Amino acid sequence: MQKIVIRGGARLRGEVRVSGAKNAALPILASSLLAEGRSIYRNVPALGDVRTMSRLLAKLGAEITAKPGGISHVDTSRITELEAPYELVKTMRASVLVLGPLCARHGRARVSLPGGCAIGARPIDQHLKGLAAMGAKIELEHGYVTARARRLRGATIVFDVVTVTGTENLMMAAALARGHTTLENAAREPEVEELARVLNKMGAKIHGAGTSLITIEGVDELHPVEHAIIPDRIEAGTLLVAAAITRGDVLVRDCLPEHLDAVLNKLRAAGVEVTADGDGIRVRGKSDLRPADISTQPFPGFPTDMQAQFMVLMTRARGQSVLSETIFENRYMHVPELQRMGADIVVEGRTAIVRGPTRLTGATVMATDLRASASLVLAGLIAEGTTEILRIYHLDRGYDRLDKKLRALGADVRRAKGSL
Ligand code: EPZ
Repeated sequence: MQKIVIRGGARLRGEVRVSGAKNAALPILASSLLAEGRSIYRNVPALGDVRTMSRLLAKLGAEITAKPGGISHVDTSRITELEAPYELVKTMRASVLVLGPLCARHGRARVSLPGGCAIGARPIDQHLKGLAAMGAKIELEHGYVTARARRLRGATIVFDVVTVTGTENLMMAAALARGHTTLENAAREPEVEELARVLNKMGAKIHGAGTSLITIEGVDELHPVEHAIIPDRIEAGTLLVAAAITRGDVLVRDCLPEHLDAVLNKLRAAGVEVTADGDGIRVRGKSDLRPADISTQPFPGFPTDMQAQFMVLMTRARGQSVLSETIFENRYMHVPELQRMGADIVVEGRTAIVRGPTRLTGATVMATDLRASASLVLAGLIAEGTTEILRIYHLDRGYDRLDKKLRALGADVRRAKGSL
């Protein structure tokens, strides 16, 4: 098992490129199941969750060829299985994204129920409610959900909560349903819009993706496509915070500012110099950071996937910042580890109060989930002395060689053999 070792103190300088978006690549790979034949995806990030999705598609009978430079060929000509097993789903709940496509294209899908995870209970009731509204027969048995339908039919679905993968699953299912579907209170994330872009390239008739009202006219057949995946806005946000927190000067390239407005506004509110620069965003960090309050919201609000990283930045601000986590009920697992490094953070329910500036000191800390691990890397960059981060498989699930990118910007970070 590997660990990451960081000697804090370096100011990050230079340029870094953002990889393809994990949360776009996963639904897009699953969408290949809606067509028969070979799809070609470019700018596919090299990370754990993409490998898990590829393993799942291969288990269903797809032929996956990963080529250098982030290219993936997915051939779905011979789908032989319609079941996503517990072994795979338990490692990555986004496996649930095969439910809609398999049910829509093959009339049946059996998927292990994801169960809870470190950051929350995360039920999939909205996914199932939507499929049932489209005429699927839903059965829950032995920890699995089975959805059956000779052919799904169009329906009007109103989400009780804004759900990203719920919107994606039902958009994919509706693309091959008979008739018209309306998704109300749909998620507006850029990854949802990107999936609709790919589905429309495959021959679907989807309108309104990126807004809370999406309409889909079902078609009888979809065809494979070639597509380059959008950049990862959360990786970009993490790198921008790394530059700001080390008082560095970094150009983060291949990212789309319009996907990061809420994050850029909060960086500016904290006194960080942020400028659009060519195909990227330049950040120049300052020593006197101001406190900033955030409340995580569905897009275009402040992303919950940036809450932990922003919390570390606020440990350097002069004053008190109030962070509210409104999306997940248990997304402060990084706090006890940051407190062990010297951070002054008090958590009350879904609110965290961060007081700064505090002097962080290096320690051995444990990663608990993907974004928590990113926040520990950021804390290690500014801590005095050495920080060792254990269980970094969490980080590798969602970041494409983050340590290598930070090293290229001057950080003293390396991997080493870990015991845990
Ligand atoms: C997606 O998860 C992302 N994952 C998450 O990123 C991200 O944190 C989340 O959206 C919110 O932005 C992928 O895209 C693969 P939700 P998802 O359904 O779709 C509740 C990362 O770090 N809910 O939008 O699973 C749910 O419990 C990951 O990259 C229901 O109650 O999240 C949560 O409180 C972590 N019933 C809220 O809605 C449902 O049927 C939003 O969850 C579905 C969701």
